[in-house]
Amino acid sequence: MSEIAKLKVGKKEIDLPIKKGSVGPSVIDVSKLYSETDHFTFDPGFTSTGSCESSITFIDGDKGECYYRGYPMDVLAEKSNFLEVAYLLWYGELPSKTEWNEFSDAIKNHTMVHEQLNTFFNGFRRGAHPMAIMVAVVAALSAFYPDSINISDPAQRRISARRMVAKIPTLAAMAFKYSLGQPFVYPDNSLNYSENFMKMCFAVPAEPYKINKTFAKALDKIFILHADHEQNASTSTVRLAASSGANPFASISTGFTSLWGPLHGGANEAALNMLKEIGDVKNIPEYIKKAKDKNDPFKLMGFGHRVYKNYDPRAKVMQKTCHDVLSEIGNNDNKLLQVAKELEKIALNDEYFIEKKLYPNIDFYSGITLNAMGFPTTMFTVLFGLARTVGWLAHWKEMMVDKSARIGRPRQLYTGAEPREFKDLSKR
Ligand code: CMC
Repeated sequence: MSEIAKLKVGKKEIDLPIKKGSVGPSVIDVSKLYSETDHFTFDPGFTSTGSCESSITFIDGDKGECYYRGYPMDVLAEKSNFLEVAYLLWYGELPSKTEWNEFSDAIKNHTMVHEQLNTFFNGFRRGAHPMAIMVAVVAALSAFYPDSINISDPAQRRISARRMVAKIPTLAAMAFKYSLGQPFVYPDNSLNYSENFMKMCFAVPAEPYKINKTFAKALDKIFILHADHEQNASTSTVRLAASSGANPFASISTGFTSLWGPLHGGANEAALNMLKEIGDVKNIPEYIKKAKDKNDPFKLMGFGHRVYKNYDPRAKVMQKTCHDVLSEIGNNDNKLLQVAKELEKIALNDEYFIEKKLYPNIDFYSGITLNAMGFPTTMFTVLFGLARTVGWLAHWKEMMVDKSARIGRPRQLYTGAEPREFKDLSKR
């Protein structure tokens, strides 16, 4: 017999079914609450609310663990590659050799974007933030590929997803090149996913380009770490947008919009800027003081997480990747890394951070790493979005085949004016 929770509202008592997942906390199903009690639940920021069933990613926030389709994310970062992880997230299983060949060939077949999209870029100021460009050009893909926007056709869903996995790196590199005033570099399908992306970002027509294998490997790892993270703000945004039946390109573009904020994907940019602002180990205590001051809006960027109440497992892999990249360029005594490590040490021993369970998150070390690889801060969130695209797509697909999925429509606690009479302007 399944468990129930009992809820008393006034004189009425109702039974609420408890649903169990495969691992992790169970949920109390409140979907009948309004029809049976005339009350809504109230949970701003969704701290206790499950919005859907999902079998993609599981996070154990207390232990600091994250699994994609049951595989520990750090093991995937070590042993797999980003495109294989994209396959895993979409299909639920790792590919066989034949499946891998078909999938990776298909992605390579779609790396180029419609030539007309190039002219779209010219409408932007050269100084436009690349995230502003991404929000627009990803949505614009629906105008270029209208043959794959019928969401009830599984074949069209698959092709639109593959197009985005293949083309978003090309668009991201174009956004970067545009900001530099350099010509776009076409994809090179003889390279793997991350190598190709590096080439599109850093090659120039005047010189031969040599792939730095350590950087490409590090970037691939960074993409894996960012690939999915269950129902975070951007993924929930994509789900909500798609719940109305919006086309896949339009839906994924909303992920970029939500990701841009400094509390989410924009934190890597903000974290590096913060480390630069601190500048020297001797200034750390002043910033720790500011972070603890209730009247100061300053927060330690790259610290804290809604779900992790332990060290973010992604931050551990990121710290190692950061060392690999800095060793490659012979910059082990990097000043920003010194500031970051010391800041981490001090914060982890400070009562305020211990009590609130605030640990470094993925963004704490990613900025230093990407910066050392040659990416400007404005590109950091773009790289996050490129990687998270495969997670958004997996959630989108899951939702498309979920028979219980309905249009997302939260309710509210209304605190505005009570119904009143309209007065003519002359009488106000
Ligand atoms: N520095 C100082 N204090 C903090 C920090 C921080 N980075 N993060 C949380 N706190 C405090 C916060 O002031 C609050 O204190 P009190 O209980 O006294 O009001 C308490 O800790 C709980 O924080 P919260 O903001 O209520 O927690 P949340 O779950 O709503 O927010 C968060 C999570 C990640 C938005 C927040 O920790 C934060 O703003 N961190 C800095 C931004 C950041 O690094 N974001 C990247 C997240 S990981 C990448 C991703 O998945 O997007």
